[in-house]
Amino acid sequence: MDSSELNRLYDFSGRTIVITGGTGTLGGEIACALVGCGANVAILDRNLDPAQHILELMEPRASHAVAVRADVLDQESLRKAAETIQGKFGAIHGLINAAGGNKPQATTRPDLSFFDLPADALRWVFDLNILGTILASQVFGKAMAEKGEGVILNFSSMNAFRPLTCIPAYSAAKAGVSNFTQWLAVHMAQVYSARIRVNAIAPGFFLTNQNRFLLTDERTGELTARGKSIIDHTPMGRFGKPEDLFGTVLWLLSPASAFVTGIIVPIDGGFSAYSGV
Ligand SMILES: NC(=O)c1ccc[n+]([C@@H]2O[C@H](COP(=O)([O-])OP(=O)(O)OC[C@H]3O[C@@H](n4cnc5c(N)ncnc54)[C@H](OP(=O)(O)O)[C@@H]3O)[C@@H](O)[C@H]2O)c1
Repeated sequence: MDSSELNRLYDFSGRTIVITGGTGTLGGEIACALVGCGANVAILDRNLDPAQHILELMEPRASHAVAVRADVLDQESLRKAAETIQGKFGAIHGLINAAGGNKPQATTRPDLSFFDLPADALRWVFDLNILGTILASQVFGKAMAEKGEGVILNFSSMNAFRPLTCIPAYSAAKAGVSNFTQWLAVHMAQVYSARIRVNAIAPGFFLTNQNRFLLTDERTGELTARGKSIIDHTPMGRFGKPEDLFGTVLWLLSPASAFVTGIIVPIDGGFSAYSGV
């Protein structure tokens, strides 16, 4: 393979990628990176207020992006979104399932024990992370199955490998996302096409809206004891920055990873490799 072929592997011109949770911190940054690499990008989210700012960041290529309202827990809204995207860009080549998160009510703390975590908060976390990933994969994966090609990239997490303290539902749900990633990779390749690949990234710790309340003090902005412990257990000694995800995301979405399916890639500054000693 010569170098021009290698360069083409990461040229996303003419390819359309859908990102659920696309107005979130990580999803939004990945959307901008993909548009910069030539892709058409559809930002899906239940709240499109932050989308305008993301589209401005994409200039002068913002015409290659569209923001579409969709709730990952509502299949009908996902189907409508798929129609809108196909109407604008044609075939959909990739799906990134970035919608996900945790909430304080599903998090143990001195005044909220595991025994008192409310069922509706636990259910919210499971639904968003695991069901939201499955439903979006059904809607957009079906179009890929009909075409015989496509790529799905899920968001797992460090806590899928070993659970983190305080967040039982989020840990179990992300373990479910990793498990589902492997299941769908096998199913797509065996039943539909070996040209449909499904992988996941497992980001370490990135300071965003979903974890700010756990990692920093709301009033002072200082690291909490948990935030400090995470930095101490991350050999690279820092939180991740959204751009730390780009290389792996582009690789897994591109033909450069044509023989890779069913893997979960840690992007964690060494957190998962470190025993703490
Ligand atoms: N930050 C980290 O350290 C870290 C580490 C490992 C994995 N992750 C995973 O990375 C992904 C992105 O997280 P992030 O840190 O960028 O968090 P974020 O900024 O909160 O982004 C998540 C996005 O998902 C959206 N969303 C929530 N419920 C939805 C629904 N029902 N339908 C459609 N969209 C919905 C959120 O919208 P609202 O703002 O309206 O809620 C938000 O825009 C998540 O799956 C997260 O679990 C993050």
